Amino acid sequence: MPTNRKNGYVEIKPHWQSKHKILGKYLNACLQFQQKYNNFAYIDSHGGSGKVLLDGKQVDGSPLIAAKQLKNFPCHITEIDEGSYKRLLESCKGISNIYPQNGDCNVLVPRIISSIESWKFCLCFVDPDGLVYHKGGQKYMQLTHETVDHIANSVKSNGPKTELLLNFQAISILRTMGYVEKLPDDDKTPIMEEDINALYGCDDWKSAKNRRGLLDLFIDKRLSSFGYKGSYLVEDNGHPLYYLLYASHSDVGAKIMKDIMGREYGQLLLQEDPIERFYFDN
Ligand SMILES: C[S@@+](CC[C@H](N)C(=O)[O-])C[C@H]1O[C@@H](n2cnc3c(N)ncnc32)[C@H](O)[C@@H]1O
Repeated sequence: MPTNRKNGYVEIKPHWQSKHKILGKYLNACLQFQQKYNNFAYIDSHGGSGKVLLDGKQVDGSPLIAAKQLKNFPCHITEIDEGSYKRLLESCKGISNIYPQNGDCNVLVPRIISSIESWKFCLCFVDPDGLVYHKGGQKYMQLTHETVDHIANSVKSNGPKTELLLNFQAISILRTMGYVEKLPDDDKTPIMEEDINALYGCDDWKSAKNRRGLLDLFIDKRLSSFGYKGSYLVEDNGHPLYYLLYASHSDVGAKIMKDIMGREYGQLLLQEDPIERFYFDN
């Protein structure tokens, strides 16, 4: 789904509030720990416009939720769209712990991670809203598997201890798969396949049967270096939209996130999943 914008401001829907609530609550929990050790950093790869529009009214988007919550911890924000980047700069005027950059996160995020000290703990909030972004007749991938790998393998390469909270677009990928299967000879089909390959780093997604299959495959292929993985299905009036996918090296972090997602989900689950792999998905 392309981003809806008005004068550069990203327009959001009420269902975005569960994503923002989960992010805000988790940051709040991180803060309690990190204030002790002064070792926290936050990266927001798809920053949007800072202030966003909900029913025409300005509310805080993810970069502002994070920067206000984290007060003096550094928040590195990247945003590719020039109009939204301009709004992002306006929105974060006077907030001293925000470091915004205009450009492709697939180029910028690996550089940011490399610049963060190895003893730091770094939460990466990755919030694409589709597979591709178009600018000036050029196509950019919203998120490539190389960027995901960079985040996932940071510790192995002596970088900071990373955690990931990813907007995983399983439903939109399912829709694209439907198109590919129905119209294998269409001109657009090979391009669409390449776009999904760019995220997965392979074409094994073709064997997935449903949204959970797509999610599990992505976790197995790209996030195996994280010991703890969890997901939460975001819906709009009962219609599934995307997963919020969490991955961490920390059992404490995973327990906290499972608790936050569980409370937001608010329904009894048929089975209790372990913190190594949990799902809030009906
Ligand atoms: C869902 S919006 C982000 C909303 C924001 N995270 C929030 O919660 O307020 C997705 C944003 O990602 C940006 N984007 C898309 N591809 C990108 C890329 N390759 N690098 C950086 N930003 C990108 C889009 O321009 C759009 O503003």
